[in-house]
Amino acid sequence: MLNDPFLLPCGASLQNRLAKAAMTERLSGRDYLPNAFHLQLYRIWAKSGAGLLLSGNIMVDKRYLESAGNIAVEAEEALPALRKWTAAGRAPGQHLWAQLSHPGRQCTILVSGRPLAPSAVRLRKLGLFARPRAMTEVEIEDVIRRFVRTATLCKAGGFTGVQIHAAHGYLLSQFLSPLTNRRTDQWGGSLANRARLLMAIVQQTREALGPDFPIGVKLNSADFQGGGFSEEDSLDVIRMLGAAGIDLLEISGGTYERMVFLVEDEPEVKASTRRREAYFLDFAHKAREVSNMPLMVTGGFRTRAFAEEALRSGMLDVVGMARPFLTEPGQALAFLQGSLEKFSDFKIRTGWKKLEDMAEGGFYARLLIQLARGEAPDRDSPALLSALFLPWHELRKALGKRVSVRQ
Ligand SMILES: Cc1cc2nc3c(=O)[nH]c(=O)nc-3n(C[C@H](O)[C@H](O)[C@H](O)COP(=O)(O)O)c2cc1C
Repeated sequence: MLNDPFLLPCGASLQNRLAKAAMTERLSGRDYLPNAFHLQLYRIWAKSGAGLLLSGNIMVDKRYLESAGNIAVEAEEALPALRKWTAAGRAPGQHLWAQLSHPGRQCTILVSGRPLAPSAVRLRKLGLFARPRAMTEVEIEDVIRRFVRTATLCKAGGFTGVQIHAAHGYLLSQFLSPLTNRRTDQWGGSLANRARLLMAIVQQTREALGPDFPIGVKLNSADFQGGGFSEEDSLDVIRMLGAAGIDLLEISGGTYERMVFLVEDEPEVKASTRRREAYFLDFAHKAREVSNMPLMVTGGFRTRAFAEEALRSGMLDVVGMARPFLTEPGQALAFLQGSLEKFSDFKIRTGWKKLEDMAEGGFYARLLIQLARGEAPDRDSPALLSALFLPWHELRKALGKRVSVRQ
């Protein structure tokens, strides 16, 4: 099954069922553009054989980054760099999609002292995030235009599809959650109102890109927080997306407050879910019952037999994997061909609950940068050092000591 092609509703076809999920690169300089490091990284992944490569999140507004070093695409000046990247970053027949995102309140204090959010609800996490400002309706309309513009530019820049990031607690996910969206206008309150921004972006992106261009959405199965975006909410949004007609729904879960997409042993994740290798699979089963749109599930897949079994069960159409593309970047082809049965699983734990997601995230962020620079991966650094890597990286970038670009 893994090697079977898959036809998307728009008419495009994936050459197999393996996708490299999005991983933010944090490699750009002050021009917010892809550079030689991105080319090096995606040349490696282009050889992976995966039918679909998703870019790391590309920002629709350079004033609000998810991380220092993000790519941001706002204007036609980005096109030459995008074209170079997409030409180097995919093999013939392989799909390379741009993941489009706005961080909302999940924008560190080093990037913005006043980020935007649906409501002024601060993210409290180690003092790294400032209190956001509730967006005006004009700013909401501006965000819609920005997503559509970035999508249009990414298409012109050679991407073969786009994915709208509505998961992991970023802006669109903040709008979906009643904990972060306390608005009383047409953008808050009922689920239909909370989903209005996502649905407007999906609909207008489709109008701009046409019926035969792949459009995907990454959505949380839940936020794993009491009173937040729930499984029932997510199933309702899936019904709405099904009616709107997207090509691939990627299921994930969690936010910066509960990073279950990286640290799946969070106590909030049900033990029964955790026991499965892919921890959002139970939810995929429910999603299948409410919509027949193509499904990709990401998070935890490591063995070939399990990926095959999940595909054969009909619960999903595409297997998404992220971290194995960093720890064993040359092995995806062997996995597809059947000569590798299992990717290694690294768990980076400090023993301090508050630091575990920072350690996990920092470890992989560093591996990605090493891979992009052509350096030997350091898989043995102490967990505590990994936990400090991202704040250090943000600070270093903020102080202007950019990673030097070797063209
Ligand atoms: C270094 C790193 C960066 C990530 N950046 C993104 C991102 O830009 N967008 C996104 O949707 N998910 C991002 N993720 C989450 C992955 O796409 C994926 O959902 C998660 O790692 C679980 O899949 P895995 O168990 O196969 O790694 C990132 C994960 C890692 C490790």
